[in-house]
Amino acid sequence: MLGKKITSICCIGAGYVGGPTMAVIAQKCPHIRVNVVDVNPQRIADWNSDNLDELPIYEPGLADIVKSTRGKNLFFSTDVSKGIADAQMIFISVNTPTKTYGVGKGMAADLKYVELCARQIADEAKENKIVVEKSTLPVRTAQSIKTILEANSSDVKFQVLSNPEFLAEGTAVEDLLEPDRVLIGGDQDEDGLEAIELLSEVYANWVPRERIVQTKLWSSELSKLTANAFLAQRISSINSISALCEKTGADVDEIARAIGADSRIGSKFLKASVGFGGSCFQKDILNLVYLSHHFGLPEVADYWEQVIKINDYQKHRFSKQIIDALFNTVSGKKIAILGWAFKKDTNDTRESAAIYISGQLMQDQAEIHVYDPKVTKHQMIKDLVYAGYGNEESISEKLFVHEDAYSASDKAHAIAVITEWDEFKTLDWTTIYDRMLKPAFVFDGRNILDRSNLTEIGFDLRSIGKG
Ligand code: UDX
Ligand code: ADP
Repeated sequence: MLGKKITSICCIGAGYVGGPTMAVIAQKCPHIRVNVVDVNPQRIADWNSDNLDELPIYEPGLADIVKSTRGKNLFFSTDVSKGIADAQMIFISVNTPTKTYGVGKGMAADLKYVELCARQIADEAKENKIVVEKSTLPVRTAQSIKTILEANSSDVKFQVLSNPEFLAEGTAVEDLLEPDRVLIGGDQDEDGLEAIELLSEVYANWVPRERIVQTKLWSSELSKLTANAFLAQRISSINSISALCEKTGADVDEIARAIGADSRIGSKFLKASVGFGGSCFQKDILNLVYLSHHFGLPEVADYWEQVIKINDYQKHRFSKQIIDALFNTVSGKKIAILGWAFKKDTNDTRESAAIYISGQLMQDQAEIHVYDPKVTKHQMIKDLVYAGYGNEESISEKLFVHEDAYSASDKAHAIAVITEWDEFKTLDWTTIYDRMLKPAFVFDGRNILDRSNLTEIGFDLRSIGKG
């Protein structure tokens, strides 16, 4: 269809997926010109900033890669049209949030940004193009993209591929450099297979061939949802057991170790927590639930929906535990929240448990004092407003953001650890204890603190799933 190797790529969307993925492709494929475009001028300015601390996305190792490739074969621009026109292969990496309105509200993915991209590609393309869906999308989105492309352009041919990202935030660069697998789905006719091969060649510059898995289009799309649903299900399973542990005196970490040693189960994704967050798990499972309903499979839908319900229950259980321990009221009390990001080593806060826990405590009139090494106050307020916990003004009255954990916990009634940032493990807990109100409660939502040390200092430490 293109009849030649890929030398120019455009990626629409300079976010958590598009940015790191393109930086790694640029580094590993010096012969390919990689152009990342975005409608948000501030985002592009930040990617182009001389100060590498100002990159819009924090990921360990990312700044170095951007430094070594930017201006050589990696470019960031707001000119979406030119980006499309100049490229042989176009990745769609725009956001696909869960719909907040209309049919499928709260469940289906909102594809308006993807649709806009498809229309723009159809308008700008003057030559044959390969379009790669990278964003997390419900099954059969490729068909919609195809339909829009074909209906809006006459003499140009398009091939649509699905190449879902499996990078986890916080380890994005590592995951991209050494992926367990790269999945590429496409049509199984001659042109489709050629497109699959051309994208495989791009990855083959650094990924061993046996790790590049080629499938039909729909299998690739559904694999992405399934992988995340399975991972999230493990967390909800262990979290459901954590509630039982607290009632019985069993220790959830010991259980995770014991069952994780069974190679059929394996040790990963068994860390009990305050609940999973992030942009993918909830959204992908909701997509699966929506699809199951759509295809008349209510039992399948209910099965997967339960994974989300346990996650909501876990977050709710945690904030209730704080209120119960603090003598049934947090009104007017100061609660320190350590960590706002949905996991360590990222500044992403989408669906972070911190939002819901802080919001619930604020509704019970607590004063929330937060410290997170990478998240700004502006973002925290935005998250709370978006989640429906008030407006900017009402939230600002109860939310205080600090430069470090010591100041956040000064004169606090309780500390809640929500994100497993490494630095929380090595804080000077004696100093913190001295400055807190007594009894000094710590709710370890990640089970990262040294129990014997904190208990010895005098803290009343409550961990997840430890009776
Ligand atoms: C996930 C997928 O792992 C990745 O392959 C990709 O498809 C995008 O979605 P991500 O959301 O970045 O990645 O993070 P992940 O490491 O999967 O963690 C998700 C949430 O689960 C986080 O809030 C994390 O703290 C939590 N978690 C993870 C646990 O509570 N316990 C665990 O054992 C593992
Ligand atoms: P993800 O985690 O999926 O990467 P992000 O929200 O971090 O999601 O990034 C998506 C990016 O896509 C945003 O920077 C947004 O401005 C950009 N975007 C959305 N729609 C378009 C569009 N039609 N054209 C160009 N960029 C877009």
